[in-house]
Amino acid sequence: MERIPVAGPWITDREILYVSEAARSAWYHGANEFQSRFEQAFCEHLHVRHALALPSCTAAIHLALCALGIRAGDEVVVPDITWIASAAPVDYVGATVVFADVDPETWCLTPEAFEAVITSRTRAVIPVDLYGNMPRLDVISEIARAHSIAVIEDAAEAIGAEYLGRRAGSLGDVGTFSFHGSKTLTAGEGGMLVTDRDDIAARVRVLRDHGRAPGDPMFWNREVAFKYRMSSLQAALGLAQLERVKELVTRKRQIFDWYRAELAELAGITLNAEPVGTVNPYWMVTAIFDSNLGLDKQTVATMLSRDGIDSRPFFYPLSSLPAYQGRPEALAAGSRNRVSYALSPWGINLPSGLNMTQELVKRVCISLKAILAGTS
Ligand SMILES: Cc1ncc(COP(=O)(O)O)c(C=O)c1O
Repeated sequence: MERIPVAGPWITDREILYVSEAARSAWYHGANEFQSRFEQAFCEHLHVRHALALPSCTAAIHLALCALGIRAGDEVVVPDITWIASAAPVDYVGATVVFADVDPETWCLTPEAFEAVITSRTRAVIPVDLYGNMPRLDVISEIARAHSIAVIEDAAEAIGAEYLGRRAGSLGDVGTFSFHGSKTLTAGEGGMLVTDRDDIAARVRVLRDHGRAPGDPMFWNREVAFKYRMSSLQAALGLAQLERVKELVTRKRQIFDWYRAELAELAGITLNAEPVGTVNPYWMVTAIFDSNLGLDKQTVATMLSRDGIDSRPFFYPLSSLPAYQGRPEALAAGSRNRVSYALSPWGINLPSGLNMTQELVKRVCISLKAILAGTS
């Protein structure tokens, strides 16, 4: 039996056509054509003023922090449960990362946990739309505004999500997206920074191009900055995917519905939440097992793997990682962030690639049911 991968894209002739076109013609005078088309289409999709194509979401978060002037001595609040890419750029700019706790239902940063860690040095917060689940961004933004704190919405995993009628990524001062190969919308690798703020967009345009503003003389750099440009080939792939975004998100929701129907009868498993007022594009179908079942994520992953099924562990609290070991802010988070630490051992991402069929979902669920019944 073929192994079931945990994630992967849905590529059609449209993507192949656009990438071929880019390989053939996106040079000379057409050098930036696909990047501009991708950025323009992204603005229209998200209803934002500016979209800037970058090589990764990590680069987008880095440039957002730079454009906001975050530096040594400043604090940036990040949820304890996320991929390290949400937090690593805080170190790149020399600021201090503060890990805050998450909600037991959405697994995203809570307004209360955010408010509890604000100090006079807090300059930004990076709420994460985890697996497509949405944090309460209206309340988080209100708290941030009251304290003059910038909001960088990390929507890396959330293309297609909505919160109170607005599209994920458009709810903060800045939003960031990832087009890594595992994502719902892929460019192979790639990222997008979106914002309605002209000042941030102008600054990012300079920072991503070695300190040159558009129209500046060639080889005339105003400052030392970064090489963070997306290639035409990536932009062509991303554009073709964006033109199919509705179809991609509909398929993701269909995959989740198959899982939900299969697992509905099972006690002791909780899947991704979709609270009233949100649309969840279910980037990763995620199951949290009741702790009293004694089935931790490593055990479940090993058993699934024996049945030819790949999975991923729910994120570890960032404050528990060797990368942050010994830092006072990680130690403080370790004793404060009870929900993050209570959830993390019991969660697993199930195969959610766009290649999933109802039959494959069934196969995963048969294996899961056997694990729960102790007959695996
Ligand atoms: C929540 C989150 N933030 C940021 C990133 C970074 O994205 P990239 O790999 O494009 O840098 C990812 C990527 O997986 C992510 O899941």
